[in-house]
Amino acid sequence: MNAPVTIKIGEKSIDLPVKAGSVGPDVLDIGKLYAEAGVFTFDPGFTSTASTESKITYIDGDAGVLLYRGYPIEQLAEHGDFLETCYLLLNGDLPSAAQKADFDYRVTRHTMVHEQMARFFQGFRRDAHPMAVMVASVGALSAFYNDSTDVHDPHQRMVASMRMIAKIPTIAAMAYKYNVGQPFVYPKNDLDYASNFLRMCFAVPCEDYKVNPVLARALDRIFILHADHEQNASTSTVRLAGSSGANPFACIAAGIACLWGPAHGGANEAALKMLSEIGTPDRIPAFIAKAKDKNDPFRLMGFGHRVYKNYDPRAKIMQRTLQEVLSELGVKDDPLFDVALELERIALSDPYFVEKKLYPNVDFYSGIILKAMGFPTTMFTVLFAVARTVGWIAQWREMIEDPGQRIGRPRQLYTGAPRRDYVPLGKR
Ligand code: CMC
Repeated sequence: MNAPVTIKIGEKSIDLPVKAGSVGPDVLDIGKLYAEAGVFTFDPGFTSTASTESKITYIDGDAGVLLYRGYPIEQLAEHGDFLETCYLLLNGDLPSAAQKADFDYRVTRHTMVHEQMARFFQGFRRDAHPMAVMVASVGALSAFYNDSTDVHDPHQRMVASMRMIAKIPTIAAMAYKYNVGQPFVYPKNDLDYASNFLRMCFAVPCEDYKVNPVLARALDRIFILHADHEQNASTSTVRLAGSSGANPFACIAAGIACLWGPAHGGANEAALKMLSEIGTPDRIPAFIAKAKDKNDPFRLMGFGHRVYKNYDPRAKIMQRTLQEVLSELGVKDDPLFDVALELERIALSDPYFVEKKLYPNVDFYSGIILKAMGFPTTMFTVLFAVARTVGWIAQWREMIEDPGQRIGRPRQLYTGAPRRDYVPLGKR
């Protein structure tokens, strides 16, 4: 703990304790401010507010650093696999070989979903957005697995966590299959996590399906890169929902709902839609001009980040993965990729984007890779949700297991009407 900071409010001097993290900026503890000085702080968008203490993920946005439990994302993406990353995020350390084998086995044993879920799906319209189906069906897990909804029981918390990590790819693949009108494909437990997911999405009963290992590795890497990102909007949503004691399936469904928005996980879908709308490289300058126009709400999707103001380290890895996937699939003359590459080049050299530090983010590249793999744009955010589920769970568990945990309840600056008397309808 560093020396407290003294602030003056009116005639009153108040000492605010300063807490130091292991790395990163110190925080002023304002928890007693209202009791002592009768004022709140005001920070819509939480740009200067730490909502929690956490040991899971660290980001240094200026240096372009992302660490999971201290390990750089580049090393995990290069040498690790997704389930190892899940173990790390959930437990705090990398697993030994025996721990990894046990964890992989336990996740694998939970991949099937209750058969009744298949009938639950029949209630959706075929043309429903798969994210709508995800929000509903992950929320519905609490109805199917109500033996693991007691948040005060550590065993039930563990079972619910394993179930969600294991079942989310199965549900995501079902959302896709339902949408395209093909039969659901059951998980195959001798495949790794990403290969299994590809198979559940793209296999059909009338043909053998052979997983392409380059695509499986690329997808596994996409999952690693999206696994956690400290207190982003959807994670904060999960924590806030969980702070009331809501069951974990309901909390993750809330996170999925938040992720859907185009400023968050929906950006990969929005980025690809934008590339299609641009269509050809000669139309890029018009779109750049729109993005710069203060009177036009248009933004270049897949560019900019609240935290990364140097570069997004995930985007760099994604850019390399994109090249691997395109060369494996022999994609050469796709106009969409030409537009993407040219847009990246122009935006990186345009003073507006350079001065505002607007770099391509992870979603700019992930959408292009997923399209090349054969996923429709509506599935992009679903894949993000598959990957982020472990991060949400790790953060939710950290919160529930904190003995000082309280319900999250922000305050407000009220600017509405002061007290006034009700006027009967006939007199208004
Ligand atoms: N295109 C054009 N201008 C932009 C963009 C963009 N993509 N992003 C930010 N700006 C401008 C913005 O107009 C503002 O300009 P000024 O200072 O002149 O008013 C300035 O840059 C700062 O923007 P901001 O909205 O205050 O920044 P923020 O931190 O609140 O927003 C963001 C971050 C990611 C929501 C935003 O950059 C954005 O909307 N990007 C496009 C959507 C996107 O790609 N989102 C995915 C984020 S990465 C995945 C994830 O974590 O979910």
